[in-house]
Amino acid sequence: MPSATRSTTTNDRTETPPALALHGGPKAFPAARGKPCPKVGVEEFLMLAERFGFSPEARKRLDAAVRDADLPPNGPHLGRYHGSAKPPMGERFEDLAREKFGAKYARCASSGTGALHAAMIAVGAGPGREVICPATGFLATGMTAALAGAAPVFCDVDESLQLDPSKLDALITPRTVAVAPTHHWGTVADMGAILEIARRRGIKVIEDCAQAPGASWRGRPVGSIGDLGCFSISCYKIIGGGEGGMLVTNDERLYERASQLIEAGGLWRPDRFAPERYPGELFVGTNYRLSELEAAVNVVQMRKLEGVVARHRAVHARITSRLKVFREIRRQKSNDPAGDIGYQFRCFPQTTDLGRRIADALRAEGIRAAFRGAGAKPDWHVHRDMFPLFANYAENCRAERCPVAADLYDRCVNISFDQWWTPEDCDAVADGMNKVFAAYCAKE
Ligand SMILES: Cc1ncc(COP(=O)(O)O)c(C=O)c1O
Repeated sequence: MPSATRSTTTNDRTETPPALALHGGPKAFPAARGKPCPKVGVEEFLMLAERFGFSPEARKRLDAAVRDADLPPNGPHLGRYHGSAKPPMGERFEDLAREKFGAKYARCASSGTGALHAAMIAVGAGPGREVICPATGFLATGMTAALAGAAPVFCDVDESLQLDPSKLDALITPRTVAVAPTHHWGTVADMGAILEIARRRGIKVIEDCAQAPGASWRGRPVGSIGDLGCFSISCYKIIGGGEGGMLVTNDERLYERASQLIEAGGLWRPDRFAPERYPGELFVGTNYRLSELEAAVNVVQMRKLEGVVARHRAVHARITSRLKVFREIRRQKSNDPAGDIGYQFRCFPQTTDLGRRIADALRAEGIRAAFRGAGAKPDWHVHRDMFPLFANYAENCRAERCPVAADLYDRCVNISFDQWWTPEDCDAVADGMNKVFAAYCAKE
């Protein structure tokens, strides 16, 4: 390499090369003259306002207010990278999850499915392993076990429509790594019995809380009762703006393995590129990172959770306290009436024919009642309809292995309640339900 100060001779003239900036010379490129235009800026912000449904007039007013906004030169960074100057929204979302769901660790993900996949991998689900899932719930639970390479094994339910713990023990084999009870439709699984069996048999418990954020069992928030809790914070759930998920746990190793699956780029680690700190820390993962846009919406949604749950509970309590008891109708059993959220009411008329007539009559009264009945269109909330799993796991998915789920699902009348109903609304709905039930059934 030529020395930085060496002179060279060209055509008999001696030239001294310019000093390197390193040695006090002028910089070759002190600053760009081109004016940077933010990659993401006001237009994108206004597009969000359009997506939110603000009127053109409101958007014009917003435009005028933010046009000269003092955005950083490159615009906001909407990815979630650790170490940014301001705490990312994702971290705020996780702080809230830790607080609300009573867990030491929280990792947000781009969906509830992503969170469940991470939980499956964290507990060691893989080829040759099995995960026990309830026969009613949603396809995502069994599907993520399968995605991890394990076989989902379906356990029948009882009249709570939750996994029946009395059938759990017999399904556990040396291949079983976990049981994944779903707290579905705002109600809670029988966690005491499930935990007792799981601890005794040495398997992990993954709570699928997608449909029950804010529910509790014996005063403990669902999600932090078992080993891992997975939430969907999506537009279809009681909180959530678009797509989003959350995983919580009190176990540091499970948290780290789940984080590796969610964010294999290593941004979750204290030192991103450091070698493996212990066997099993690093493995091939995905990018299920949650975008900062979704996280921002979900921070606000999480703050609203307590109010949402309290309003649902008040509506449910008012309506159900007025309901009469009828001989031909059994109400869904509750494993913890104080812990359920109660955004739906489910009952099982004696026959599918009776169920259909009751649901039709309720709808005619203006009450939102749903009923499926035997032979209805497939629905991925009951195991026998979970077609994407059948190809590889037909043996486990056969309906006759979970006859209670199949029967209850076919007879179930489902009435959706609304958190915003006034006491008068509640009383009118309760009276309407009593009227219809009394028309078809005998009072006890
Ligand atoms: C019980 C249950 N688990 C998991 C999921 C998956 O959540 P996401 O749609 O956020 O992936 C859902 C969504 O409907 C669900 O109901």
